[in-house]
Amino acid sequence: MTSSGTTRPADPAPVLTLDGPGGSGKGAVGQRLASRLAWHFLESGALYRAVALLARQAGTGCDDTAALARLAHELDVAFEPRQHEPARVMLNGVDVSEVLRTEEMGRAASEVAVLPGVRRALLDKQRVLRRPPGLVADGRDMGTVVFPDAAVKIFLTATPEARAERRYKQLKDKGFDVSLARLAEGIHVRDARDAEREASPLKPADDACIIDTSSLTITAVVARIMRLLRARLETARVER
Ligand code: DC
Repeated sequence: MTSSGTTRPADPAPVLTLDGPGGSGKGAVGQRLASRLAWHFLESGALYRAVALLARQAGTGCDDTAALARLAHELDVAFEPRQHEPARVMLNGVDVSEVLRTEEMGRAASEVAVLPGVRRALLDKQRVLRRPPGLVADGRDMGTVVFPDAAVKIFLTATPEARAERRYKQLKDKGFDVSLARLAEGIHVRDARDAEREASPLKPADDACIIDTSSLTITAVVARIMRLLRARLETARVER
């Protein structure tokens, strides 16, 4: 009840958005934050990757915008949380986590993500994941479009060299034989496409806090964001 005796609608669950280009550390940082806070975690890139995978399985071309929007609209993706490791991504009940993480799917996801019809179809599928006690949302347009009223908006950046080296190490650790130069080129092309598209391009929200992670550890980035979040939630509590 408010002081005037009327009932106030329940406050929506708080959201922390983490946007930035590939290799800026969003995934690792987001996972740690969600686990520290015991909040839900949305890895929105997985939805775009899943649409790309379905398109590949159905033989749908990048130019068939109506069919791609339909695939996105009908998308049945669920995240199954795991302790101490990333959630498994279930597509129509099948675990597709490994195939979704490949560079090929990342590139294909960036191509379907250009289409406004695909983005519109995925909007509600992302917003329904905002549930108590809170949501950490990682992507490209989390703070600008999907959750514009987020409690804290973070935009992570890092030099192209640092990002390529991180990706290289991640893939090498998984046993993939990759070339650093080819990875750097792929990252460059994908960033340019994500940042230059008309529909919800990759960019910091006006009220985002920008953190360059090039020379920071994940622990340091997480600590900085936790401080920001605690201060913001405390201010919101006092103002209420
Ligand atoms: O975060 P990721 O690497 O899994 O994302 C794969 C691609 O999906 C990325 O290159 C662009 C697209 N994407 C997007 O356009 N908007 C998002 N919120 C998340 C991902």
